[in-house]
Amino acid sequence: MKRNSLIIIGTVFSAITITSCFRDAKKPGLEYMPDMAHSVAVETYDESRNPDIYPDKMSARTPVKGTVPCAQGIIPFKNDDYSNETSYKPYHHPFSPEGEKASDEDKNPLEKTEINLAEGQRLFEIYCAPCHGKEGNADGTVTIANNHAFPMGAPFAYFTDANLALTEGHMFYITQYGRNSMGSYASQLNPNERWKVIMYVKKMQADYVAKNTTAAKDDKKKA
Ligand code: HEC
Repeated sequence: MKRNSLIIIGTVFSAITITSCFRDAKKPGLEYMPDMAHSVAVETYDESRNPDIYPDKMSARTPVKGTVPCAQGIIPFKNDDYSNETSYKPYHHPFSPEGEKASDEDKNPLEKTEINLAEGQRLFEIYCAPCHGKEGNADGTVTIANNHAFPMGAPFAYFTDANLALTEGHMFYITQYGRNSMGSYASQLNPNERWKVIMYVKKMQADYVAKNTTAAKDDKKKA
């Protein structure tokens, strides 16, 4: 008797073991703890399980009216204090020719200190130099790769007349929305960081102008 029941248990056990390996994708079988397999929280981009509330079944809702995107404004975090509520105002210029023009009025709200400039340079060399070049001559590694396949050349150097005339506010607008083949840097760098980078770009331009006016003066002296 004892032996028989052992055989029966053995047979049932092997039958389960063997058959559990065959899987019909359409019949997932028994779920012992469905809560473990199916999260109570809605999965990202899953259909909403509340068709009464959301007839369109979309679980990823647009934010409620008046929601302010974090770290999108132009007012920097004073002393990197992220609790300053004015930092959370959205960027106030729309992506339009009018918005671009209006951005000319914005001034760099950060103080021009050695520390800010050094941080601006550090960030510039990480985020901008690959295209704009370490010195701003539009000759970064990305730009010159594959025989200048990237559509960026000398006309985009920071030292053309048109680019020297760009205001800091306008440069901020460009980092906010991007421009042609340059993407937006709004998600990589917060407003504080972007103002520091722009401070550094302006310093490179000022150094260039200073150097070339002395060179021009020297030329005049020689003539
Ligand atoms: C992927 C390459 C790339 C990177 C990285 C990049 N840019 Fe640009 N940037 C461009 C290109 C290309 C243009 C010219 C766009 C046009 O006018 O067609 C440009 C234009 C600009 C201009 C307008 C003046 C000019 O040179 O034509 C500014 C200012 C600028 N970028 C700032 C920045 C800053 C600041 C960063 C770093 C946060 C940055 N860019 C990173 C590709 C890049």
